[in-house]
Amino acid sequence: HSASSHVIIVFGASGDLAKKKIYPTLWWLFRDKLLPSNTHFVGYSRSNLTVDNLRSNAMPYLNAKDSEWTQLDEFFKRNSYVQGSYDKPEDFIRLNKFIVDNFSACSNRLFYLATPPSQFISVATNLKAHCTAESDGLWNRLIVEKPFGKDLDSSEVLAKHLSSLFSEDQIYRIDHYLGKEMVQNVVVLRFANRVFSPLWNRDNIANVVVTFKENFGTEGRGGYFDEFGIIRDVMQNHLLQILCLIAMERPISMEANDIRDEKVKVLRCMRPLSLDDVVVGQYVADPENGKPGYLDDPTVPAGSITPTYAVAALYVDNERWQGVPFIVRAGKALNEKKCEVRIQFKDVIADILPSGAVHRNELVLRVQPNEAVYMKLMTKRPGMGFGAEETELDLTYNRRFTDLKLPDAYERLLLDVLVGSQINFVRTDELREAWRVFTPALHALESQRVAPHPYPYGVRNGPPQSDEFMRRLGFTFSGQY
Ligand code: BG6
Repeated sequence: HSASSHVIIVFGASGDLAKKKIYPTLWWLFRDKLLPSNTHFVGYSRSNLTVDNLRSNAMPYLNAKDSEWTQLDEFFKRNSYVQGSYDKPEDFIRLNKFIVDNFSACSNRLFYLATPPSQFISVATNLKAHCTAESDGLWNRLIVEKPFGKDLDSSEVLAKHLSSLFSEDQIYRIDHYLGKEMVQNVVVLRFANRVFSPLWNRDNIANVVVTFKENFGTEGRGGYFDEFGIIRDVMQNHLLQILCLIAMERPISMEANDIRDEKVKVLRCMRPLSLDDVVVGQYVADPENGKPGYLDDPTVPAGSITPTYAVAALYVDNERWQGVPFIVRAGKALNEKKCEVRIQFKDVIADILPSGAVHRNELVLRVQPNEAVYMKLMTKRPGMGFGAEETELDLTYNRRFTDLKLPDAYERLLLDVLVGSQINFVRTDELREAWRVFTPALHALESQRVAPHPYPYGVRNGPPQSDEFMRRLGFTFSGQY
C-alpha cells in the first residue's frame, strides 16, 4: 500500500508561528512546486476559523506577487480547517474521519505541533490513539516546535512521553538555525577543505565566539519570553547547535545519525555551565532614542529578573578543545540583527613585526544577514615600506554567487521532513545533553535571583560587564568588534 497523497496537519493553526512561518513556508514550497503533487493542508486549532481567516492572517507574510494570485488561490483550495480541542478523543476521531473522507485512507501524515507547549502531550497522545495512518507503507511524522521543556527534568518528562508514543525516526524536533545556509555550510567548510583540519584545535585556536543579536526587544511577546529568557530562547538551542557543528569530530559519513552522534559526543564532553562562567543583562529604556526598557513592556511582570542578554563560556573537555573557551552570547534590543561565528586564532609565535602591529587571525562565518565567510589576515601594506595591515579574504555570498536566492530555513526543514531526512533535527539524547549543560546555571540564576546588569536599548555589546568577561577569557577585541 503506497501513499497516494500527503496530508500536512498544522496544530495551532490560529497561532503566531502558523501565520508568520508555517503557512508562508507551505505556500512557497507549493509555489515553487517542491511539494509532492498530491499534498493537502489541514489547519487545526481551538478557534472558530475558516480557511479565509487563515489566508488573511498569513497574507502579510506570504510575499505573494500579483502575478501569483491564481496559484495562491490554488494553494488555499488545498487547505482546510478543522476546529477542535487539544484533549478530547472525539475531536481527533473527527479529524481522522475528515482526512480519510476528504483525501484518501492512503495518505502519509505530517503533524506539525505548533501549539503551546502545555498541549504537546495531550495532542501527541490523542494523535497516536486516533489519528495516525495505519496501513503498511504509510508514514506518520511529527514536527515539534520548541520550547522542549524548561530544564532537564521537564524536558525528560516530555521526551519520555513522546518516545512512548512515536519512534525516534518519526520525531522531528525543529531548530530552525539548522536550516540556515551558513549553518549547513559548516560541515562542508570544515570537512571538504584540507587547510582547516590541522588548525582546528587547542594548539591554534584561542577561542570561538558565537554571537546572536537582535535590534528589537520583546515588544508584546513578553509573556512568553519572560518565562524563558534569552538563554532558553536561543542559547540552549540555536547557538549550542552551531557550537556543536564547529566543535565536533569528522563524522563517519553524512548520514543523520553519524552527524548527530558526533554532536552528542561534543555535548557529553561539555561541563555544565557554572555561574562563574556567565554574565546576564537586561535592557533598560534609552531616553536618547525613546526606546522602552524590558520592564516597560506591559506583558512583562513587574520586577522581572529575566535576562534579555547573556554571555557564557562553555568548555569541551576533550583532546581537541581542552581549555578553549567557546563563548556564546545572545541579546535582544541591541544595535543590529546579526548572527555570526568568530574563530579567533592564537597569536603568532615569535612575532618579528613591531609590537602591536600584528592582529590575530580570525575566521568568521556570518550566518545573517548577508551570508559570508571571511578570514582576517595580516598583509604588507601595499607600496613603499613594510607596514603590516589587517585585511580579509572575503567570500561574501551575494557577490560570489550571483542571482542568489536562498530558501528560508523553514522551507528546507519541511522538505527534509517530507523526504525523511533527520540530519537537521535534534535527537532526544542531544536535547537531554543540551539541557544537562544549561540547567544548573539556569536554576542557580533563578534561585539566587541574580540581578541582570542593565544595558540601554540599542547598544552594541550588551552591558559593559560582557566585554570585560570576554577579555578575561582571552578574546582580543580588534577593529570595530
Ligand atoms: C526564535 C526565538 O527561536 O528565533 C526568537 O524564539 C528569535 O526570540 C528567533 O527572534 C530568531 O530567528 P531568526 O531566524 O529571525 O534569526
